[in-house]
Amino acid sequence: MTASIEIGSGDPTRAALEVLAVCVEEGSLEQNAWLGPIEAAMGGGLVAHAKLVEFTGKAEQLLDVSTLGRAKARRIVLVGLGPRQKLDAARLRASIAVAVRASNGPGVTRVGIALPAEVDWRHVGEAAGLGSYRFVKYFTGDRRPKAELKKIVLYSQGRVGASARRELALGVGIAEAVAIARDAVNEPPNVLTPEAIASVARKIAKSGKFGIKVLDKRGIRAAGMHLHYAVGQGSANEPRFIHMSYSPRGATKRLVFVGKGLTFDSGGLCIKPAAGMGDMKTDMGGAAAVLGLMAAIKHLKPRVEVHGIIGAAENMPDGEAYRPADVFTSLSGKTVEIINTDAEGRLVLADALAYAARLEPDLVVDAATLTGAALVALGKTCSPYYATSDDVAQKFEGAARDAGESFWRLPLLEELAEQLKSDIADFKHTGDRYGGSILAALFLREFVGGYPWIHCDVAGPVYAERARGIYPKGATGHPVLTFVNLVEGFAR
Ligand code: BES
Ligand code: MN
Ligand code: ZN
Repeated sequence: MTASIEIGSGDPTRAALEVLAVCVEEGSLEQNAWLGPIEAAMGGGLVAHAKLVEFTGKAEQLLDVSTLGRAKARRIVLVGLGPRQKLDAARLRASIAVAVRASNGPGVTRVGIALPAEVDWRHVGEAAGLGSYRFVKYFTGDRRPKAELKKIVLYSQGRVGASARRELALGVGIAEAVAIARDAVNEPPNVLTPEAIASVARKIAKSGKFGIKVLDKRGIRAAGMHLHYAVGQGSANEPRFIHMSYSPRGATKRLVFVGKGLTFDSGGLCIKPAAGMGDMKTDMGGAAAVLGLMAAIKHLKPRVEVHGIIGAAENMPDGEAYRPADVFTSLSGKTVEIINTDAEGRLVLADALAYAARLEPDLVVDAATLTGAALVALGKTCSPYYATSDDVAQKFEGAARDAGESFWRLPLLEELAEQLKSDIADFKHTGDRYGGSILAALFLREFVGGYPWIHCDVAGPVYAERARGIYPKGATGHPVLTFVNLVEGFAR
C-alpha cells in the first residue's frame, strides 16, 4: 500500500485535495457539520442537489458531484453511513472503504475524508487502508495509472489525541496485513509458487521476529507428510510446508491457524475443465489469510501464542503425479486411498492439521478454498464454517460479525461419515457429490486429534467478481479480519 493515511487539521475545503468525501448519517443532510462550509465554498446548491437525486445517506449510498471549479477540490463525494444508532464497526469500515474507492480515480492523488462524530480510529485506519488497495503491478504503458493515490487525510470534528493516533496507525497496519493476503491471491500462479509463499512467510517472520520453519519437498517426505507430498509430486514447482510461530512471554493460550496453499489447482490427473481453470490461482486463499493474520500479529502483539501453518503445493498432471487408487500414510499414521486427485486440498490439510495437533493447541482454525459445494450451498459471498463446540462457534461468530465478514455454520453430519470408509485403507478422501463441503470437513476432522477446531471453507469469498463494502474486485483478504478479531478475543 502506497497511500499515506494521516489526520488533517483545519477546514477541509481549504486543503489541497482533489476529492473531498463526506460521511453522511441517514436522514441528516441538513444537520451534517461538514456540509455547511462546503455549501458556502461552492455558493450553495449541494444539499438541494443531493435531495433532488434522493441521496438520503443510506448505508454505502454514493453521490459524486463535480465542483465545477467552485471549490478547491474538484469533486465532492457524499457517502451514506446508514442510521446513526446502528453505526457498528462493520458498517463504518464498509462505508469509509467505499468512500475511498469511489474517490480514487484518474488524476486523484490526495483525498480528504470528513468523518462522523466519535469514530473508532482503528476501524477508520483499517477502512482507509482497505479502500485504497489496488493491484496494478502488471500494467505497463497506457494501462499504468498515471496518478496514484498518495495521501488520505482524515478530518474529525473533535480533538484527536495521542491514543487516537496510535489506534489509527494500528488500523493502517492491519489493512497492510490484509493487503499482503490480497496481493498473494492476485499474483499469477507462475509467480506465486509454493517457494514464493515461503519467501513471503520468511519476510513476515523476519519483520515480526517470529520463529519460522520451512520444509522443502524432501523435508516434507522425511517428516512423514505423505499426503502433502503426494499432492505436490507431479509439479515442477515443488511443495513447501511452512510453520511461523509467535510465542510471547507469559502467553496462556495457544492458537494454531492452518491454511490451504494450492498455488494452482489443475485438478491433477483428474483434470478440471478448461473453462474457469484459471480461477484456481486463488486456491491458496487460505494460506494467504494465514500470511495476512501473521503480518497483523506483528502490529497487535497479543498475549497469546499464535502459530501460522501453511501447506503449499501445486496440483498438476504429470508422469510423477499421484493417481486415483494410490494409498498414502498421513502424518497422523492413518492411511488414505486416493479417489479423485482434484480433492487435493483436504489431503494437504490433513497433514497440516495432524502437525497442528502435535502443538497441543487450545484451538485450531483452518481456512481452505476446499469445495465447489460450499459455493453451491451459500453463494460466492459467504463461507460455511464448522466448529467442534457451540462455545468456539459463538466466539467465531462474534469475531466475524465485528469484521463484517460473512459466515454461516454448517453441521458436521455424522450420518455422512460412513462414505469415507475405504475397502483398502482407513479412509477414502471423497464420497457423494451431495453435501460435499460437509464431507470434506468430516474428513479433516479425523486429523485434528480431538482438539477444539474451526474449519472455514472459503472457496467463494476469497475472490470477488465485483467490489462490495471493504472488498475490492479480485482478491478480498477474506477472512483475515475475522481471524484478527478471534485472536484478540482470546487475548482479552
Ligand atoms: N480448489 C477446489 C475447490 C474450489 C472450487 C475452490 C471452486 C474454489 C472454487 C478443490 O480442490 C476441488 O477441486 N474440490 C472438488 C472436490 C471433489 C473432487 C470431491 C470440488 O469441489 O469439486
Ligand atoms: Mn481440486
Ligand atoms: Zn483445490
